Amino acid sequence: MSRFPLADRLAKLPPYLFAAIDKAKAEVQARGVDIISLGIGDPDLPTPDFIIEALHRGAKNPENHRYPSYVGMKSFRQAVADWFPKRFNGVTLDPDTEIVSLIGSKEGIAHFPLAYINPGDLALVCTPNYPVYPVAVDFAGGKVEYVPLTAENNYLPDLEAISADSWKKAKMIFINFPNNPTSAMADRAFFERLVEKAREYNVIIVSDAAYVDVYFDPANKPLSILEIDGAREVAIEFHSLSKPFNMTGWRIGMAVGNESLIQGLGKIKENVDSGIFQAVQEAGIAALEQGEAVLDANRAIYMERRDAVVDALGKAGIDCLIPQAALYVWGTVPKGFTSAEFATDLLQKTGVVVTPGSGFGIHGEGFFRISLTVPTDRLKEAVSRIASL
Ligand code: MLT
Repeated sequence: MSRFPLADRLAKLPPYLFAAIDKAKAEVQARGVDIISLGIGDPDLPTPDFIIEALHRGAKNPENHRYPSYVGMKSFRQAVADWFPKRFNGVTLDPDTEIVSLIGSKEGIAHFPLAYINPGDLALVCTPNYPVYPVAVDFAGGKVEYVPLTAENNYLPDLEAISADSWKKAKMIFINFPNNPTSAMADRAFFERLVEKAREYNVIIVSDAAYVDVYFDPANKPLSILEIDGAREVAIEFHSLSKPFNMTGWRIGMAVGNESLIQGLGKIKENVDSGIFQAVQEAGIAALEQGEAVLDANRAIYMERRDAVVDALGKAGIDCLIPQAALYVWGTVPKGFTSAEFATDLLQKTGVVVTPGSGFGIHGEGFFRISLTVPTDRLKEAVSRIASL
């Protein structure tokens, strides 16, 4: 028993999914096993040189050595405002009121409920889900109602199945398309229905758009919720430079959308952090301004990897969803295993790390997730080890 017991909010939490996977992986690695790590969605591709060079220039400028602005440099917010309409069908954003910089989208998502959830308030969380959503609601004292994403509904939440009572009570709904972990995409009709519901019941839409630029069909690009009429009244959207530009270690992202929601989040952030190193923001500007070729090159690499995994899993008789976007393949656990048993056995017996679907909530039970973040030959090797289990 520790002399300093943890607060209840932390004591009741299971270990953070990816930290627990890292620990298990390190134990097996210490035995000298050749590990193929398909757990966390952490791109193996390097950050492009022109982004690193922008950081280098920025780091040499003494102006950048002092506290950054809380909401982000005006030039960073302007770069976001310039990028947004080019990517999302002419949607314009006011850099002064509708954009705030984030120390990665995880930071913003984790802090946002503190601005709008009072103890006992309800949040709807579509699940299987990124583990941060329910934890963030819980830290704010709120309660979570899970909304299942099922194969029968193309991994979209059935908005009509949420009771009127829940819609009335809910302060916010968390969505994430392209989806982690399933890789499902949402269409315009879904976003329109969601915005309609949110406006009817005065519910905040928290849209996690971290994977919006990792897609495989240029004729069917993932949408921003802000492309939908009326969304700006009710939505905040979280973007990240991590996955599209191979910048997970840099910690830079942004929240965009409804002005008062951006202000609410900004107020929390003023009290808990002091912004992003300005040289990193300057690197972020370079990514947004000159990054299109990188995005295309990354998409081609992920598509090749996706095709190799889907093909190899198919040959091994393991079902999976064919991803249209995101970095993940969502596979069905072979009969006779739970998700956790499968992931543990796989690691112990073959050295392959996957994420158990149950780590994303009970609706992930029966599935496992592969991250496409190692080269194709290693992915093929991983699937052949999976097939041998
Ligand atoms: C994941 O693997 O689900 C993500 O990479 C985790 C994250 O972005 O924090």
